[in-house]
Amino acid sequence: VMGNSTNLFWHENTVGKAERQKLINQQGCVVWITGLSGSGKSTLACSLNSELYSRGKLSYVLDGDNLRHGLNKNLGFSPEDRTENIRRVGEVAKLFADAGLICIASLISPYRKDRDACRAMLSDANFIEAMLLSVFMNMPLEVCEARDCKGLYKLARAGKIKGFTGIDDPYEPPLNCEIMIEQKDGVCPTPCDMAGQVVSYLDENGFLH
Ligand code: PPS
Repeated sequence: VMGNSTNLFWHENTVGKAERQKLINQQGCVVWITGLSGSGKSTLACSLNSELYSRGKLSYVLDGDNLRHGLNKNLGFSPEDRTENIRRVGEVAKLFADAGLICIASLISPYRKDRDACRAMLSDANFIEAMLLSVFMNMPLEVCEARDCKGLYKLARAGKIKGFTGIDDPYEPPLNCEIMIEQKDGVCPTPCDMAGQVVSYLDENGFLH
């Protein structure tokens, strides 16, 4: 459905992204963390946020679960609502990146088409420099379910939550992620190691200078 967007104009400002980035000596981008509930998205987001802070880089976390208390409080977990959830957070992330920040978005974002739409939206002509780096938390369902930090897998298995990702709603793994976080020899990486992996990527690709 098209929005009511006739007779609207885009206002350009003389202070643009380039000027803001110069002012704070960094490059705006979006680090999009996707994965099952309990796969460690929020842990990575938090650890990455701290690591960037200690390097003097300004970042901001958009956490799916948290945003559902405010911006997205009218949305549930139907496929349509998840799509709208991801679209809104993508739009907000784009604004943060345009402001010059490293925006860390942490959402299950289970459907490939929604993540692809975000990626496309973040490379639209007005924001040519905005970049999206996708981080896939490639943790086996068994590991996430065994953790069950919030007790939601148990409820989903008991049929008390319907449409739970990984149980009776699909998670479609990315085909084009820049960074993959996974177990090595059956051991999960520490929060510090996970953040280090992302920071190295940002560094090597010129986002930290
Ligand atoms: S989505 O799919 O991207 O729109 O989800 P997201 O906004 O990231 O919210 C996920 C958190 O909501 C809780 N929760 C559920 N997750 C998946 N499926 C269902 N049905 C569901 N119901 C509630 C859950 O705590 C998720 O938190 P995380 O941080 O991912 O564990």
